[in-house]
Amino acid sequence: MAYLLKGVSILGAAPTDLAIVDGVISDKAPDDAQVIDATGLVALPGLVDVHTHLREPGREDAETVETGSRAAALGGYTAVCSMANTSPVADTAGVVEQVWRLGREAGLVDVQPIGAVTIGLAGKQLAELGAMADSAANVRIFSDDGFCVADPRLMRRALEYVKAFDGVIAQHAEEPRLTEGAQMHEGEVSTRLGLTGWPAVAEEAIIARDVLLAEHVGSRLHVCHVSTAGSVEVLRQAKARGVRVTAEVTPHHLLLTDELAAGYDPVFKVNPPLRTRNDVEALRQALLDGVIDVVATDHAPHAVQDKECEWSYARPGMLGLETALPIVLSVFGEKWDLIADRMSIAPARIAGLTGHGGDLSAGTPANITLVDPSARWVVDPAELASRSRNTPYAGMNLPGRIVATFLRGEATVLDGKAVK
Ligand code: DOR
Ligand code: ZN
Repeated sequence: MAYLLKGVSILGAAPTDLAIVDGVISDKAPDDAQVIDATGLVALPGLVDVHTHLREPGREDAETVETGSRAAALGGYTAVCSMANTSPVADTAGVVEQVWRLGREAGLVDVQPIGAVTIGLAGKQLAELGAMADSAANVRIFSDDGFCVADPRLMRRALEYVKAFDGVIAQHAEEPRLTEGAQMHEGEVSTRLGLTGWPAVAEEAIIARDVLLAEHVGSRLHVCHVSTAGSVEVLRQAKARGVRVTAEVTPHHLLLTDELAAGYDPVFKVNPPLRTRNDVEALRQALLDGVIDVVATDHAPHAVQDKECEWSYARPGMLGLETALPIVLSVFGEKWDLIADRMSIAPARIAGLTGHGGDLSAGTPANITLVDPSARWVVDPAELASRSRNTPYAGMNLPGRIVATFLRGEATVLDGKAVK
């Protein structure tokens, strides 16, 4: 199917027509192209998420590759990198190929598996990084996310190993000895509530160590879900020295604060935890400055029984895919060049996903998301495509509706609805 997006604004520029023919962007549409009235709509390169939990294999009651892919497409994504903390863990070529194949079968977004750094995420022995890299899944990002690669020697070896094929280690920065029993951000609110705190320094200490290791080895480090003002300063200095480090921030850390824990609603429990207003301000500025490279969702679906229970028993994590762009729009406004860079171009570059994060010029793959910035909507957990319901934004009125998403020229979302 060919499409003609009539009167579309590309990244906020003056209205124009954009044609999609044979999977690529074209100057000219054939006569039988489906015409979409795109007046008032903005075209962006399809969004790319470097941090998504799809839960398959193992917790298909919380999400599957297919339901997560549908949530992603509805959120404007054309590619997602799926985290390795599945059951079994994605620590072998077999498991990453399985996830990759399930993604292809669903056909809604490109699912790029992330491989585990250590066997079983246990932090003891390196997984078969080379076999995962050489597999059909072509893994380039490795992460024990959910856990920190706390052992500095293992971290060094992992960085050395992936250097050979320009891979990257994505670190969940949490010094485990400093966060034993932690339930929320360590600060005034945790003191008041009597909950064990997760101190900012537990994140900052690992990032500081890892940028030094990455510098020593000369390999690429990516820092997952940066959450504190102090982490931003460590990253700023490392980047100024030329260390090959990139970093992500989640939509929830750009908007929400630790005050939300005061109601003991576990929907606000997440790891790393929601921080203070000061941290939120620093993270916003860091994203604007480019010290933080990308927005990543850390989409973390959880089944009702794992989430709607007492705070201390609830699993950490929040849904993110279907609300990411609206949250970013509500925080930063219609800064389309920023949004395209931080949510598509830079994440595609970090993940090595050629074909994504393009400039929407003629001849490039038609991975596109079409947004109505003027449409507002109220988040209703029951209406989300994710199999889980743990959104912290329930009842919020957000700007920005995804009208259509195209994956290599095929519509995955049209009129705000998933095509399959
Ligand atoms: O909140 C989180 N949830 N943080 C993590 O690091 C893991 C994730 C999950 O898998 O649920
Ligand atoms: Zn994590």
